[in-house]
Amino acid sequence: METTLCCGGSLMSSISRWSSAISFLILIVLTAVGEGTSPKQFTMPGETCGYIVDNGDQFKVVSQQIQLGDEPEQTSYLANVSCTITFRTQRGKRNFLRLSSFEVETSRFCSRDGLYLYDGGREATDKLLSANKHALCGTTLSLPNYFVSTGHEVTLKFVTDGSNNSFRGFTVLITPFAENEDCDGFICHMTKRCITKEASCNKEYQCEDGSDEPPNCHLRNAGFRPSSTWCSWPLLLSSCFMVACQWMLTGTRPIP
Ligand SMILES: *[C@@H]1O[C@H](CO)[C@@H](O)[C@H](O)[C@H]1NC(C)=O
Ligand SMILES: *[C@@H]1O[C@H](CO)[C@@H](O)[C@H](O)[C@H]1NC(C)=O
Repeated sequence: METTLCCGGSLMSSISRWSSAISFLILIVLTAVGEGTSPKQFTMPGETCGYIVDNGDQFKVVSQQIQLGDEPEQTSYLANVSCTITFRTQRGKRNFLRLSSFEVETSRFCSRDGLYLYDGGREATDKLLSANKHALCGTTLSLPNYFVSTGHEVTLKFVTDGSNNSFRGFTVLITPFAENEDCDGFICHMTKRCITKEASCNKEYQCEDGSDEPPNCHLRNAGFRPSSTWCSWPLLLSSCFMVACQWMLTGTRPIP
C-alpha cells in the first residue's frame, strides 16, 4: 500500500520527471521580478543642455562636479553655467521631482547660483515650482524637498556665476507617474501614484513616503513579493517540491 501525500499519489510519481521543467519555471519567475534599475542620469552642464529629453520612465539630474584638492567631499560645480533641459513624459502622466542632495551657494534671491524648476516645457517665472517663486539655493532645504508638475513636462535650469562655486551641487530625481486605476508598475502606498516598476528597489526614494524602497528589498530582489500574486506560485511549487523530495527519499512503505 502506498502512503498518500498532499499533492496526490499519481502526481507524485510523475513529478520527478517534471522537476527540471518546474525548476526552470521558478527561475523564470524569480528573474522576472528582479531588481529595479537606476534612473538614466543627466549632468548639468552636459551634452543635453538646451534639449528636450523624451519618454523616459525615470531620470536623475546632477550638477557636474570637479574635484578640489585631495578630500573626496571637496568638490565644486562649474563656473558661468547656464544649462536648461526639458524632461517630457507621455501625455496624461505627471512628474514627481525629489531633491535627494542639495548644496548651492547662498545668495539673495539665489541670484548668484541657483536651480530653477519650471512646471512645463518653458522657462517662465510664473511657472516656477518653488513656493518663493525664485531659484533654489542654500545648503539646507526647507521641507518638503519634493515638487509635482501639473502636466507631462518639467524644465530644469542651473545657473552659476564665476566666483566661489565650491559646493557639492545637487541631485534631482524625476519620476513620471500616472494616477489611473490599472497600474502595471509600482503603486506608492500613500499617494497611490503609479510609477515604473524599475523605480522600486533601486536605492532611490521615488515615492513621497519612501514606500518604493521597503526594508525587504533584498527579499523582493530575490523574487518574493508579499503584496503580489506572483508570490504564491513559487511558494506553492517549492512546497510541492519538498513533498516530492520527501516522498522520493522515503519511497513506498507498508503501513503497519
Ligand atoms: C566667468 O565669467 C566671468 C565674467 O564674464 C569671467 O570674468 C570669469 O573669468 C569666468 N570664469 C570662468 C571660470 O570661466
Ligand atoms: C565660499 O563660500 C563659503 C560658504 O559661504 C565660504 O565659507 C568661503 O569662504 C567662500 N570662499 C571664497 C573664496 O569666497
